[in-house]
Amino acid sequence: MTAQLTNPSAPAAPSAGRAAPPSVGASAAEMVARRKKGYSLEGGFYTSQEVYDLDVDVVFSKNWIFVAAAAEIPEAGDFVTVDVGRASVIVVRDDDDQIAAFHNVCRHRGSRLLEDKGFVGNIVCPYHRWTYALDGSLLHAESQPPAFDKTCFSLRKVHVRNLAGLVFICLAQDAPADFDEVAAIVEPHLAPYQLDRAKVARQVDLPEAGNWKLVMENNRECYHCDGHPELTSAYFPIFAYDEEDITPRLRPLYDRYTKAAEALAEKRREQGTPLQDHMQLDTRQVGFQLTHLPLDGEGRSFAAGGAAVCSKLIGEIKDAAFGDLSLHMQPNSWFHLLGDHAVVFSVMPTSPSTSVLRTTWLVHPDAQEGEDYDLESLCTVWNATNDQDRVLVTNTQIGCSDPSYVPGPYSMVEDQVEGFVNWYVTRLREHLGVEATA
Ligand code: FES
Ligand SMILES: [Fe+2]
Repeated sequence: MTAQLTNPSAPAAPSAGRAAPPSVGASAAEMVARRKKGYSLEGGFYTSQEVYDLDVDVVFSKNWIFVAAAAEIPEAGDFVTVDVGRASVIVVRDDDDQIAAFHNVCRHRGSRLLEDKGFVGNIVCPYHRWTYALDGSLLHAESQPPAFDKTCFSLRKVHVRNLAGLVFICLAQDAPADFDEVAAIVEPHLAPYQLDRAKVARQVDLPEAGNWKLVMENNRECYHCDGHPELTSAYFPIFAYDEEDITPRLRPLYDRYTKAAEALAEKRREQGTPLQDHMQLDTRQVGFQLTHLPLDGEGRSFAAGGAAVCSKLIGEIKDAAFGDLSLHMQPNSWFHLLGDHAVVFSVMPTSPSTSVLRTTWLVHPDAQEGEDYDLESLCTVWNATNDQDRVLVTNTQIGCSDPSYVPGPYSMVEDQVEGFVNWYVTRLREHLGVEATA
């Protein structure tokens, strides 16, 4: 199956002239109502403009989305901008070392204020030079009448949270309230990695010729992981197995895995880090999953045989073999935290059939490139994995646009894909007010 799907010469995107899939003509409400649990989504979810608009307006604009590592904006005045559909948001570190977020729209006549990322002392509109402080307040606007009240024209705020160095925003008026509850669970797990004070070693934006959901669904399973030789070399090949799945042939491997898991648990106890896993992908609005896994071989990091990729451990981690803390947050992110570095991922939709995967590698702020880590070696595994996944996503986008495509059943090891899809369909169902009919 993998051999058929990994065709590197596959076209970059489905052509506009391709024949219509069976669900073209079906409304989003019809498709949401008849979505069958345990089955992949029908083609229209990945091709229709109506669904894409709903994804932007409902999923990405009414939920908390991951947009940046706090380490990308370490100093006051550092900023990044984030595009969510037609909206743009400025995420900036203010003078009090807090992270703030504002709509990237001037309060005068609406000009865009900032582009891409960078550093500013104040936020100055390029049009008529209205000038805003880093807390969004209007400092200066020329030629206004005496009665002009600057306090009425601050930048419009966007909800923002810095969860132990991971920055989330929510564009809704009322953001989902359970973020704080989830943060209280997750934060103690993340704290020792000190991501807020980490250094960005590299950031790569990978354009995907596939709907954002295909990128997320692909990440939520390892059914296809035979196609990831670099990534799987660090993991035990049975990490998703239950005791009852273990055949006599697998028993020695399973025993080795169990020993490594026990050793990791002991190290986490010594470090004072929580051990418990959490699976709440579709049981709450701020759906998430958090797991701790031991790594195979040397057990240290993602290099071949579980070897380390950075000699300086991240945060206040004391033991190089600290396993893989893996965190998934609905709808658009996942994270891997290891003893020597962390990798954070976000997926943003750009059209019904395209998206962008952003990958950011974080290391200890004192880690020196060329001394403590080699940049290429640090990024090898996920650059390779992302590119292998890109081909799978491209092929699936093309296949889901094919007139013959009908949803197929998830296997027993695709429960987290169902967790993602069920969370997603639930958001649309609530918004559209439709009942499930399947
Ligand atoms: S539009 Fe920004 S100052 Fe006029
Ligand atoms: Fe993959």
